Amino acid sequence: MTAHRLTRRTAFRVAAAFAGLFSLTMSSIFAILYLVISNDLTATLKDQIDDLRETFVEVGATSGRNALSTMVTRHTSANPFDENIILLTDMDGNYVAGNILAIPRFRSWRAIPWPDLPFVRTWTMPTSSTAALGSWTNVKDGHLFVAGGNGDINDVQAILLDGLGWAVGLTAFSAVLGGLVLGLSAQRRVDAMENVLNSFAHGNLSVRIRKSASNDDLNHVAELINSTLDRLQTLIGSVKQVTTDIAHDLRTPISRIRQKLELAQQSQSDYPAPYRAAIETALDDIDQVVETFEALLRIAEVSSGARKARFVDVDLKLVLSHVIEALEPVAEDREQRLVSQLDGKSNTVISGDRQLLNQLFVNLVENAIRHCPSGSRITIALSRTGDAITVHVADNGPGIPAGERDNVLRPLYRLEKSRTTPGSGLGLSLAAAITDLHQGTLSLHDNAPGLDVCVRFNAKPDDSV
Ligand SMILES: Nc1ncnc2c1ncn2[C@@H]1O[C@H](COP(=O)(O)OP(=O)(O)O)[C@@H](O)[C@H]1O
Ligand SMILES: [Mg+2]
Repeated sequence: MTAHRLTRRTAFRVAAAFAGLFSLTMSSIFAILYLVISNDLTATLKDQIDDLRETFVEVGATSGRNALSTMVTRHTSANPFDENIILLTDMDGNYVAGNILAIPRFRSWRAIPWPDLPFVRTWTMPTSSTAALGSWTNVKDGHLFVAGGNGDINDVQAILLDGLGWAVGLTAFSAVLGGLVLGLSAQRRVDAMENVLNSFAHGNLSVRIRKSASNDDLNHVAELINSTLDRLQTLIGSVKQVTTDIAHDLRTPISRIRQKLELAQQSQSDYPAPYRAAIETALDDIDQVVETFEALLRIAEVSSGARKARFVDVDLKLVLSHVIEALEPVAEDREQRLVSQLDGKSNTVISGDRQLLNQLFVNLVENAIRHCPSGSRITIALSRTGDAITVHVADNGPGIPAGERDNVLRPLYRLEKSRTTPGSGLGLSLAAAITDLHQGTLSLHDNAPGLDVCVRFNAKPDDSV
C-alpha cells in the first residue's frame, strides 16, 4: 500500500481524526487550566505583596518616614536572595531606602524583568523568577514600591506545560491506536466489499459479500449491495437469454430463406440477369446477417464469463505464431508485410481460453490487413516485463483518430470510411470482451502513422521468468 493510498484509507483517517480531536480537547483543557491557575497564582502573589505593603504603610503612618526607612533597610538586608523588591523614595522620587536605586512611577501593577532593575548591591538572579511584579503606594513624606518575584507562577506554568506535552502525546498515541483498531476492522469489511464488486465487474456474477455478526450500517450496505448484485445477475442472465432466444429463433427462418434462395439460384438458371444478380446479393447479405448474429452471440457468451471455467495454460507465443502463419498469405495477397517480433526467451504463458485468444489476435491482425492499404507493414510484438505480458499489433496505415478510439470498441461501431469494407463492427468489441475475460487490458494508441493496439495480460502468478 503506497503512502498516498494509506492516507486515503478510512482506518487511517479515523485514527488521524481521533488523534486530532483528542489532542485539541486536551490542549483546550490545559489552556483553560493554565489561564485559571496563572490568574490565581498572580492574585495570591499580589495579596502577599499587599500584606507586606500594608505593614510598611502602617509603620510609616504611625512612626514616620525615618522609622519606615529603617524597617525597609532591615527587611531588604535580611535575606539577599529574597525575591521581594522594595524601594522607598522621598516626595521628589530620590532614593531613601530599599534594594533598588530607582524606578519610574506608574499606576496599578506591572511586571518588571529582573535585568531592568537597578540593584543597590550585586544580586544573585533567582532561578525561576523572570520578573518582579509590583506597584507604587504613597506613604507619609514619600512613595513606596513593593514587588515580588514571579518564580512560583513560572514553576507551576512549567509543570503545566510539561504535563500538557505528556498528555497530548499520550492522548494522540492512544487515539491513533484506538482509531486504527476501530478503523481497520471497518476497513477490512470495506475491502471485502471492494473485492466482491471487483470480482463481479470481471464477470464472476455469483460472488456475494459475507454478512458479519454485527448488525450495523456496514452490514446494511452489504445487504443492499448483495440484493443489487442478485438483481444484476438476473438481468444479465435474462438479456443473455433474450439474445440467445432471438438468435435461436431467427437462425432457422434465415437458413430456410438461404436455402430457398440457393434453390432458386440453382434451379432457375434461365432467370433474367437482374434477378440472378438480386439473388446473389441477397445471399451475400444473409451471410453477413448470420455472421453478425454469430459474433453477437459470441460476445454475449464471452461477457457472461462462463468460459472462464475452461481456462488452461496457454502460451501466447504459440497462439501468435499460428495467427501469423494463418494470415500471412492473406497479407501477401494485399502486398502487405507481417513482421513478427516474438520474444523467444521469456515465459509467456497465461491462464486462458486458447480458441478465444486465437480469435482475439486474428481480429486485430485482420483489422490491420483490412483497414490498411497495400504496401503497409504490420508488426506483431510479444514481450514480458515483470509479471506483465504485452502484445502489440501495430500498423502504419490510416490509424484511428484519438476521439474515435473509445467508440470503435463499442459493438457495431465502424468508422465512416470503413463502411465499404466487409465487416460488422464487432471485431474490436469481441477482442475487448475476450481481453476482459482474461483480466487483461486492451488499449488503442497512435502509431504515428497508423494504429497500435496494445493488449496486456498478467503472467500466471506462480511462475517466474
Ligand atoms: N488497424 C486499423 N486501422 C485503421 N482503422 C481500424 C483498424 N482497426 C479497426 N479500425 C476501425 O475500427 C472500426 C471497428 O473495428 P472492428 O470492430 O474490428 O469492426 P470491423 O473491422 O468489422 O469494421 C473499423 O470499422 C475501422 O474503422
Ligand atoms: Mg474488424
